[in-house]
Amino acid sequence: MAFSPLRSVICSCWLLLIVILQNANCANSVNPKMRTTLLHSQSPDPVPWKEAHATFYGGSDGIDTMGGACGYGDVMKEGYGEHNTALSTVMFHDGQTCGACYEIKCFNNSQWCKPEGASITVTATNFCPPNPSQPNDNGGWCNPPREHFDLSQPSFLMLAEYKAGITPVQYRKIPCVRQGGIKFTISGNPYFLLVLVWNVGGAGDVTGVDVKGDEGAWIPMTRNWGQNWHTGTVLTGQSLSFQVHGSDGRLVESPNVAPKDWQFEKTYEGNNF
Ligand SMILES: *[C@@H]1O[C@H](CO)[C@@H](O)[C@H](O)[C@H]1NC(C)=O
Repeated sequence: MAFSPLRSVICSCWLLLIVILQNANCANSVNPKMRTTLLHSQSPDPVPWKEAHATFYGGSDGIDTMGGACGYGDVMKEGYGEHNTALSTVMFHDGQTCGACYEIKCFNNSQWCKPEGASITVTATNFCPPNPSQPNDNGGWCNPPREHFDLSQPSFLMLAEYKAGITPVQYRKIPCVRQGGIKFTISGNPYFLLVLVWNVGGAGDVTGVDVKGDEGAWIPMTRNWGQNWHTGTVLTGQSLSFQVHGSDGRLVESPNVAPKDWQFEKTYEGNNF
């Protein structure tokens, strides 16, 4: 093909346009405030429904779902309420999905499903352990590779009749709506700082936490269990800042949430997604 000066001018223009568009994108992605605004002003992306099964555990008041493998403790006082769930091994991901929110609806069970379309929103607060002594389709509901929700009883009863016992469901992960900031509850001791991270909005589940004393650099914390994160770095007497990484890749920073005289067994509130 012969060299065409006109074609090369057109090509350059396209390149220029692409560069401009890319810069426009970058401008959006470096401004967390703007991204948050965009996220809230759009309706959530249509996430496809997936299939799983659900059972329930505990009594009608949901109290038996307190405590649990995410480390949240008093889920009622913490605002998670009675609409929470335990997740099977493949969904729990060793605690990484603790705090995630799911919309769930009863599916393909005309005998026991509550009226068509009823859906609930629950927060993952616990682990449904496998039961290798029982078959996957008869009691071993949470055995790998099953995707399974062991719901609080009040949640299950919004979807299906008590008698159903187990029902097929459809579910999708949705953004979590939380009041106020992310909470950091500090425990452990000076040489083993353990921080429970809770009330996380947006993705709801946390993939990383960094802590910083007023004299140092960011220190990545290690997941200890559930949403408890630890570091061996001594930070007593320094004000503490935290960075929380959501599973959607977003990051929220909470500068100096805990003052220099922070205490063990106290909770401090930061920013939220
Ligand atoms: C619905 O349930 C029936 C009976 O358990 C099963 O055979 C069928 O495959 C299910 N349909 C779907 C779409 O999952």
